Amino acid sequence: MNIKAPRGAKDILPQETLCWYLLEERFKEMCHIYNYYEIRTPLFEDAELFIRSVGEESDVVEKEMYVFKDRGGRELALRPEGTAGVTRAYLQHGMHNLPQPVKLFYFGPMFRYDRPQAGRQRQFYQMGIEIFGTKEPSADVEIIKFTADFFLGLGFNNLKLHINSVGCEKCRPFYQEALKKYADERLAQLCRDCQRRAQFNPLRLLDCKIKNCRELMKDSPQIDHFLCDPCRDHFNEVLALLEVLKVPYYVDSHLVRGLDYYTNTAFEFFSENAGPQGSLGGGGRYDKLAESLEGPPVPGVGVALGVERILLAMEEEGLASPETSDPEGVFLATGSPELKEKALLMAYTLRERGLKADADYANRSLKAQMKFAHRKRFRHVIILGKEEKLKNVIQLRDMLKGEQQELSFEEALNILTAKA
Ligand code: HAM
Repeated sequence: MNIKAPRGAKDILPQETLCWYLLEERFKEMCHIYNYYEIRTPLFEDAELFIRSVGEESDVVEKEMYVFKDRGGRELALRPEGTAGVTRAYLQHGMHNLPQPVKLFYFGPMFRYDRPQAGRQRQFYQMGIEIFGTKEPSADVEIIKFTADFFLGLGFNNLKLHINSVGCEKCRPFYQEALKKYADERLAQLCRDCQRRAQFNPLRLLDCKIKNCRELMKDSPQIDHFLCDPCRDHFNEVLALLEVLKVPYYVDSHLVRGLDYYTNTAFEFFSENAGPQGSLGGGGRYDKLAESLEGPPVPGVGVALGVERILLAMEEEGLASPETSDPEGVFLATGSPELKEKALLMAYTLRERGLKADADYANRSLKAQMKFAHRKRFRHVIILGKEEKLKNVIQLRDMLKGEQQELSFEEALNILTAKA
């Protein structure tokens, strides 16, 4: 067949899903402990939502967004990230009228048309958490501490937290002006996009992916010299609280992140071993996002983690392998075709008792069925042959211990349900 999965989109195969479950379960468990509730928003939204929130000048909107017109002529976009849609839903459903803060989490696919490579896909999964309705620095720190603990729980102990403040609408214009001035002096050497960024959105000069532009911007002014007092206080409080909670950080004064909605705190977790796609997750505060969507002023802060990147980094560091699951369940094997129906009925009885059970659907020989049960990592096999049928017994084989006993089916059932 010539039709393959689209470039940049991956099938997640059964042998990989165990690792996905591990991550998903750990994430949801932490969300429960931290008191976050799940929200599921549409995979596509009005394109305008992302233009207004993520920003018209951002790479995500300008170059990477999948935009299309539906049959009714509406301009829609596949969501490139989760925060905009969650904020839209928060406002649309009047969650600002609930006791604040409101703490939400999500898990699902996002879409960005970027050049695919290891750790960078066109369809990728994010898991994210957002806190709405508080400006407190302790909320920023909760988001960061959650993320740090999540990674530690998976076994990562070498991730680096980069953190910065991108200021607010009052102080940032002075910084942008300084950046623009710096860029204007080097305009001819910058790429076309950066020449335009210098004009319309100088902050974006700091996340150009082109090496030469990065080199040129290395010595550009740093935002910490421009922060107003409230922004500086907020940032200092975040850092002080991180120290209290013993979360190590590195202040990276050129970290601005690729999305326009950030105010104050911006941060990213990097894996040093994961190469150019080393950012396993990032987030920050977005106190003006709700207003940019014509909502009331609702501050917010959150993070999104890249599932595929985390799994890749886990594999590289030997933190997870699909083979780590223990053998489980019961396979019903029979050497005689006329006993097939009886074996199937036994499988249904086991399932009714909540046990994983399966039987042969391929008319294999008994030997081939045993091999199949081993490869599929069944812990037990119930063997039902003509002789067993006559004696009204079965053979229960423990595939791990290599032991076998002759029992009535009821006895086997009792043993298996007691173990489960
Ligand atoms: P982001 O930094 O654009 O932030 O994405 C978060 C994470 O998603 C990245 O750190 C990375 O792990 C993963 N990621 C991004 N693009 C790709 C891709 N093409 N392929 C694979 N993984 C990718 C946001 O999306 C914000 N909404 C985060 C946030 C939540 N800010 C506040 N709340």
